[in-house]
Amino acid sequence: MTVRQAQNITWHPGHVTREERNNLLGQRPCCIWLTGLSACGKSTIAMALEQVLIQRGYPAYVLDGDNIRHGLNKNLGFSPEDRAENIRRIGEVAKLFVDAGLIVITSFISPYRADRDRVRSIMLPGEFIEVFVDAPIEVCAARDPKGLYAKAFRGDIKEFTGISPEAPYEPPLSPEIHLRTDTMNVEECVETILQYLLAHHYLQGGVGAKGRSS
Ligand code: ADX
Repeated sequence: MTVRQAQNITWHPGHVTREERNNLLGQRPCCIWLTGLSACGKSTIAMALEQVLIQRGYPAYVLDGDNIRHGLNKNLGFSPEDRAENIRRIGEVAKLFVDAGLIVITSFISPYRADRDRVRSIMLPGEFIEVFVDAPIEVCAARDPKGLYAKAFRGDIKEFTGISPEAPYEPPLSPEIHLRTDTMNVEECVETILQYLLAHHYLQGGVGAKGRSS
């Protein structure tokens, strides 16, 4: 898909700095980018992580593949070009949310390394945290919560990630976090991400903590 380039547009800088926003919210915003096969556990981990962060006072928001394809990206299918455009738009949305101060959790198969790397490249160093949600495809196919693997095996879905030769999954080469959902449960996965956020100083008290202490 070709993205048309608008002309005669000017960037308007705002008056609020990142630091002011970060201090207000008590966190260093970032994009936690979950990538992995369909049914590997991305959405489950994303929703559980979002809940824990919110409960602890850290403004967070999930962008989820199936959900975004109901609206913003409802005009996109699953060809490599459409997937690239899907990820490009989500990357831009995630960047805006990070700019607004949120911890953004994205849950997209995002099968192509180049598409994920492009999102990393539009963010500041340290803002993009790639999380490989890893489970063998046999395990994902056995879970098959939406019955899509069964359909793909029957040939009823073309371009199904990991099953159709024309829809490969390219695993991250050096993700910040690697989760094995065939051996770790949801709580362990969420805890692993939380520990990473704490160790790298993304969580700095949160709004809830400030509200309680004042
Ligand atoms: S991505 O490849 O462009 O990142 P995305 O995460 O938005 O995919 O959407 C994947 C979801 O769409 C899957 O969880 C599944 O429910 C559904 N889906 C429908 N068709 C396909 C397909 N051909 N390949 C993968 N997922 C599909």
